[in-house]
Amino acid sequence: MNIGFFASHNGSNMQAVIDACKDGSLDANPSIVISNNGNAGAVKRAKKENIPYYIFNTTTYFSSVDLDNAMLNTLLQHEVELIILAGYMKKIGEKILRHYKGRIINIHPSLLPKYGGKGMYGTHVHEAVLKAGEKETGITIHIVDEEYDTGPIIAQTPISVTDDDTVDSLSKRVLEREHRFLVETIVKVVSEEINLEKL
Ligand code: GRF
Repeated sequence: MNIGFFASHNGSNMQAVIDACKDGSLDANPSIVISNNGNAGAVKRAKKENIPYYIFNTTTYFSSVDLDNAMLNTLLQHEVELIILAGYMKKIGEKILRHYKGRIINIHPSLLPKYGGKGMYGTHVHEAVLKAGEKETGITIHIVDEEYDTGPIIAQTPISVTDDDTVDSLSKRVLEREHRFLVETIVKVVSEEINLEKL
């Protein structure tokens, strides 16, 4: 299965999936990396791994329709079959959503629908979890639709919040678990133990 990654920042989740492809624990091929941010760690990782990468944003394409078309053409050119949003901060264009319906997945560091939606990313999520006094948080992997963090849920895993947790300690624990959980889930998608078409 050819995977296309969309990533705006560090790309550590993307790296976990690439590593799993390289060590054979995931039977898939990291085909391309798309970012809106030329300085993203994810772009540096793509260079290092020799994976074709593209920067698409409203500076490179002024109109959002052209941007959507150009991104879709690139995905098709590289025969991408599954898109993974790994810390991607932009909404997906209509044409890509239509063409890849049910084949775009996102990882989010909370138990959605809790602590999702616009503005709920990175440390904001963990801050809100701690502020609410939650005893449990977690990770959600879901299919992407036109809104932020709202599509059908594929997989979730809980993570305990301890009394002495800080935003830093919680972010670190959740991110470490994300790396394994994302790979475990993609393995199930590739083997069709999780059938995206039925969701
Ligand atoms: C992760 O917490 C992921 O759940 C969220 O963005 C973060 C990306 O981290 N969507 P990284 O860029 O993969 O290190």
